[in-house]
Amino acid sequence: MPLFAPKTKAQSTIYGRCRSDENTKLRLKYAPFYDTFEAQKGSRVWKDGQELVLLSSNDYLGLTEHPKVLEAGQKALRQWGSSSTGARVANGGRQYHLRLEEKLADFLGKEAAHVHSAGYLSCMSAIQPFAQRGDLILVDRNVHSSLWSGIHNTNARVEKFSHNKPASLTKALSFEKPETPKILVFEGVYSMEGHIAPVPDFLEASTGQNVFTVMDDAHGVGVLGNQGRGTAEHFGATDQLDLVCGSLSKALASVGGYVAGDRCLIEYLRSYSKQTLFSAAISPVQAACADAALDILQTEPEHLEQLWQNTRAYRKILEDLNLDTWGSETPAIPVVLGDKVKVYYFRKALMKKGVFTTMSIAPAVPPGKDLIRSSISARHTAEDFKIIADAFAYAVKKVL
Ligand SMILES: Cc1ncc(COP(=O)(O)O)c(C=O)c1O
Repeated sequence: MPLFAPKTKAQSTIYGRCRSDENTKLRLKYAPFYDTFEAQKGSRVWKDGQELVLLSSNDYLGLTEHPKVLEAGQKALRQWGSSSTGARVANGGRQYHLRLEEKLADFLGKEAAHVHSAGYLSCMSAIQPFAQRGDLILVDRNVHSSLWSGIHNTNARVEKFSHNKPASLTKALSFEKPETPKILVFEGVYSMEGHIAPVPDFLEASTGQNVFTVMDDAHGVGVLGNQGRGTAEHFGATDQLDLVCGSLSKALASVGGYVAGDRCLIEYLRSYSKQTLFSAAISPVQAACADAALDILQTEPEHLEQLWQNTRAYRKILEDLNLDTWGSETPAIPVVLGDKVKVYYFRKALMKKGVFTTMSIAPAVPPGKDLIRSSISARHTAEDFKIIADAFAYAVKKVL
């Protein structure tokens, strides 16, 4: 197709901006992102005919092809059709919404929950309706973009504290009047770093300081706590967190998200969250697959056990090669190389030897922390780990 010729000044400005953008030009030239696979089975994907071990999926428990999940999705599709066809406030909810919400609330130890068609919407929803002018949001500076989008949609003041540092939170609190309503925002597990939040220390720092707590546990649910009930359960802190939000697209084998808390908070969210009022509800298949995954978490403990066994096996491979994993404590394990060119060639070397990963480079990570992103699934096999070990040994030799 011939290059579009802008007609208006606005078109010239915006087309020009896009055409001259260095990041876009580099991405198109070197194609380090947005890979497309022609097939997927278990822990393997196929790209341009090459079979690769997928080492960057968030399918922590490996349930996305579990027979019960597939059956639930197929049944929901036949019973309810393909779409929820609109927002619940305008178009009515369906029984499958309520069923999933009750199950999630129960699993997370909360009174009620609301589900959305994306975790991004849920995490925005856990903040946007609750914060007002005069409030102060205290936020870990490394939180996910969805939480920032929620924060930037409010008129509250915002104060960042250092990642996972309770002393930094204490310092930020010390400058504030006790009577100011404060909203503390952090993640249970950070997927870029693999860190677990020091929840008891955050709660202690917040005691008596007039704080409402919001935790995004997208990467903690299904991974930490009894039966995978998440970071709050892991620390025995379920009752002390006001809202827990997260995603269904990680351990829960679906796509979508949730916010869980006291019923009054969830009903308030249903009245004031723009992401809830003005966006179509989660689809029948999405809801049914997550619903089935929640049952599996509670009846088949072997997936969680396998996940942690695999995580230990992978960590050993990286440690034996003296690679820097940024102190990761979870199945989300970064390999920090600290230089974007090294990261690019390291990833290429891994691909050559049959392992697919993604990369994160500054400004997505702090300067000097450019890294290979990797995450472990219960579905990785002993044969996968042999391929992974050989590929990393090759990449270390070739690039570092
Ligand atoms: C910490 C965190 N919160 C929220 C989200 C958004 O979830 P979803 O992908 O379901 O929109 C993600 C996904 O990357 C995430 O990692």
